[in-house]
Amino acid sequence: MNTANSSDKKSEKDYSKYFTQVITPPSLKEAKKRGKSEIQYHDDFGIPEEFRGMGEGRKFYIRTYGCQMNEHDTEVMAGIFLALGYEPTDNTEDANVILLNTCAIRENAENKVFGELGHLKSLKMEKPDLLLGVCGCMSQEESVVNKILKTYHHVDMIFGTHNIHRLPHILNEAYMSKEMVVEVWSKEGDVIENLPKERKGQIKAWVNIMYGCDKFCTYCIVPYTRGKERSRRPEEIIQEVRHLAAQGYKEITLLGQNVNAYGKDFEDIQYGLGDLMDEIRKIDIPRVRFTTSHPRDFDDHLIEVLAKGGNLMDHIHLPVQSGSTDILKIMARKYTREQYLELVRKIKAAIPNVSLTTDIIVGYPNETEEQFEETLSLYREVGYETAYTFIYSPREGTPAAKMEDNVPMEVKKERLQRLNNLVNELSAEAMKKYEGQIVEVLVDGESKNNPDVLAGYTTKNKLVNFKGPKSAIGNIVKVKINEAKTWSLNGEMVEENEPAEVK
Ligand code: SAH
Ligand code: SF4
Ligand code: F3S
Repeated sequence: MNTANSSDKKSEKDYSKYFTQVITPPSLKEAKKRGKSEIQYHDDFGIPEEFRGMGEGRKFYIRTYGCQMNEHDTEVMAGIFLALGYEPTDNTEDANVILLNTCAIRENAENKVFGELGHLKSLKMEKPDLLLGVCGCMSQEESVVNKILKTYHHVDMIFGTHNIHRLPHILNEAYMSKEMVVEVWSKEGDVIENLPKERKGQIKAWVNIMYGCDKFCTYCIVPYTRGKERSRRPEEIIQEVRHLAAQGYKEITLLGQNVNAYGKDFEDIQYGLGDLMDEIRKIDIPRVRFTTSHPRDFDDHLIEVLAKGGNLMDHIHLPVQSGSTDILKIMARKYTREQYLELVRKIKAAIPNVSLTTDIIVGYPNETEEQFEETLSLYREVGYETAYTFIYSPREGTPAAKMEDNVPMEVKKERLQRLNNLVNELSAEAMKKYEGQIVEVLVDGESKNNPDVLAGYTTKNKLVNFKGPKSAIGNIVKVKINEAKTWSLNGEMVEENEPAEVK
C-alpha cells in the first residue's frame, strides 16, 4: 500500500461502512465539503476465492459512452470479467452480461442510454438469465437511478464510478437476488491500484494519473459523478508506463479531468504534472500525450518541460469554453480572456510549432450576441487547429441549471452553426499546410473505409490515410501528404532514409 496521507490498510469489510444503497443526490453544498486529508490508497485488489470461475461458460459485453476516462474504466471492467472466467463478445445477442458504461455530460448523452435500455428490453424478455447493468457517470445521479428503478425494471444492476472494483460482488449479488442491485457509493476519496486491465489495443494505451475534479465549473456534472480530485502516486504511474513500454506500446495518454491539478492533493511531496512529464519523457516510449488540461493550473514548469520535446507531443488540448470574460466568470472557469491568451502566448513562445485544440460551449444562459462574437474572435486569434463544440445543456444539481436563460434554442443552434463554420474553415486551412510535407505517422491499422489503405496519426494528432505495407502497422513511419481534407490527410509512405523534419 502507498502511504501518502493514507490511513491504515483497509480490509474488505472496512469498506462496508461506506457501502450504501441510498444514493446521495448531486449537491454542490455537500460536494464542496470534501476534505483534503481523506484519500486512501488501496493496492490489495484480488478476486475472492468464492467468485473464481463465476464466468465459466458465460460471455460479457460492455458498451462505452463518453470520454477516455470511461473507455479506460471499461478496460478495467473487462480485466475483472476475464479474471472471473468470462469471455468477451462483441454481440449483445451472445452475451450473458451486458453493461452500459454511461456518460452524463449532456442531455443527449443520457438520452442515448435510455434509448438503448429500451432496445435491450426485448432481448432481456427472450433471455431472462441475461444480466443487464448500468454503470458509469449516470449511475451517480439520483434522478437517473430513480428513473431506472421506476421505469426500467429489466435492469439488474446499477453501480457507480467508485464501485468498479466491486464488480465481482455486484455480479454475485445480481445472480443471487431477484431485486435490482444498486451499489452507488457517495464516498469518493479512494485510489485503487492493481486492478486488472484488458487494454483494447496493443499500440496505444490510456494511463490514469488522477481521478475526479474539484473545479466545479457551474455547468458541469463531472465533479459530482467522479468525486474529488485525487492523484495516483508518481511511482505507480511511472511503473505502469515502464511496463507499457516494455510490452511494446508506442503511445500513452495520461488521463484526468483536470490533469494540471495533478499532485495538488499530495501532502508529503511537492510534485506536479511538469515533474511527472519530466520523468516520463525519459522512458523509452515513442509518444506521450495528456488530456485534459485546465488553463487555470497550466504552469510555467509544465511549459518548460513540454518544450523539451522528444516523446512529448506537440499538441495541447486546452479547453477555453468561451471567449468572453463575463461568461467565463459565471462559468466559474477562474480565468479571463486575457489570461487565457497570455497562456497561449507563453505556450507558443516555448513550443513554436504547437498545435492547439479546444472545447467550446455556446448558448450559455443569457449569453449575448457580443459575448458570442468574443468567442469567435478568440478562436481566430488563437488559431486553433480544431475544436469540440457544444450547445449548453443544463445538468440537474449544477448551479447553472438554476440560472434563468433568455437565449432561445434557435439562437443557440444558429450560434453553434456559425462557430462550426469557423472551426471548419480554420481546420481546412491548418490541414492544407501539410500538402507536400513529410510527416511521422504512428500506424494504427487498416483504414475504416478501405482495408487497402492504412490509417494512423501524426504527432499533432491528425488522421492520415495512406498506402503502405501491412507490416507498417504498429510502427512510426514517414508519409508524404498529397491531399488535405478538412478532417484528414491522404498520403503515401516514403522510404525510411528520406529526410523528414516536418511534423
Ligand atoms: N475536464 C475537461 C472537460 C470534460 S467535459 C475540461 O475542463 O476541460 C468535455 C467538454 O464537455 C467540456 O470541455 C465542455 O466543453 C463540455 N461540457 C461540459 N458540461 C457541459 C454542459 N453542461 N453542456 C454542454 N457542454 C458541456
Ligand atoms: Fe467539468 Fe472540466 Fe470544469 Fe472539471 S474542469 S468541472 S470536468 S469542465
Ligand atoms: Fe461523461 Fe463522465 Fe466522462 S460525464 S465525459 S463519462 S467523466
